Amino acid sequence: ARPRVFISRRIPEEGRALLAATCDVNSWESDEPPSHSEYLQAVAGVDGILCLLTDTINGELLDAAGPGLKVVSTLSVGYDHIDVKECARRNVKIGYTPGILTAATAELTVALLLATSRRLKEGIRAVENGEWGSWKPMWLCGPGLEGATVGIVGFGRIGVTVGRCLKPFGVASFLYSGRSEKPVEAKELGAMFVSFDELLAKSDFVVACCALTDKTRNLFNASAFKKMKNSAVFVNTSRGGIVNQNDLITALQSGQIGAAGLDVTTPEPLPTDSPLLKLDNCVVLPHIASATHKTRAAMAVLAANNLLAGLRGDKLPHEIQI
Ligand code: GLV
Ligand code: GLV
Repeated sequence: ARPRVFISRRIPEEGRALLAATCDVNSWESDEPPSHSEYLQAVAGVDGILCLLTDTINGELLDAAGPGLKVVSTLSVGYDHIDVKECARRNVKIGYTPGILTAATAELTVALLLATSRRLKEGIRAVENGEWGSWKPMWLCGPGLEGATVGIVGFGRIGVTVGRCLKPFGVASFLYSGRSEKPVEAKELGAMFVSFDELLAKSDFVVACCALTDKTRNLFNASAFKKMKNSAVFVNTSRGGIVNQNDLITALQSGQIGAAGLDVTTPEPLPTDSPLLKLDNCVVLPHIASATHKTRAAMAVLAANNLLAGLRGDKLPHEIQI
């Protein structure tokens, strides 16, 4: 019999077609997620699930799928939404999509950094509202990258690539912090491994590229923002959960830090009455770092190939090691 798989949202056709060639596919044909109970119903008896980062994959959901479930494949590099221990207990393999989205994610990180530091939101709004007036020497100035110190928290594939993209702007020095030293990448960028506190104290730009784990949850809290320069620009393209968002709001409102650029928030979507959206010194994007046509298509194909390998009982092209 053909294996049964559930795809939890509309995804690029390349990936769906790969699965449809050999599997009985039930896809949730919407951009909006199924409700909790619809999700539990949809996975009953399936062999594989292709999920998104917005889906909570926990014991309850795995039980709803049943003992035939072999593999969960997420269309994301982050997998903080998946309970890996519960998957391991049931011998369910987990696939994810590292590597192929690194360039797109780094690119958007740079875009957000520039949009924030060079005050693009305020500038665009001023032009649209007829508040341009004349050319003003003192107007809409911000910190530039030339001569700046950039601190990268989480010097993985994405963090290193952000550094490579920023170097040509004339960055004076790179600092990085994280679980371990990365001598090869550090040498290429001339980056120095420092403690988190030293990175906060010395960086003009603090860029978060770390995964959300028990160690990084709420890492950017009031105490962290206090250690940062009052002019510091903070950029987060990892997960909202690494930031204590109320502390960030206070830090931005009080001038404890200079500005923030966020592709990720808590919750997502961010309610339109969030104080973050009232701040001139904060730019918020709707979690679009990997959103290039090519990258999303490649993610769908990789997620499908991970799922197919798991269904065959093979090692996945990109499997989370538990
Ligand atoms: C996006 O946030 C991803 O984890 O791929
Ligand atoms: C994290 O997943 C990275 O690719 O840097």
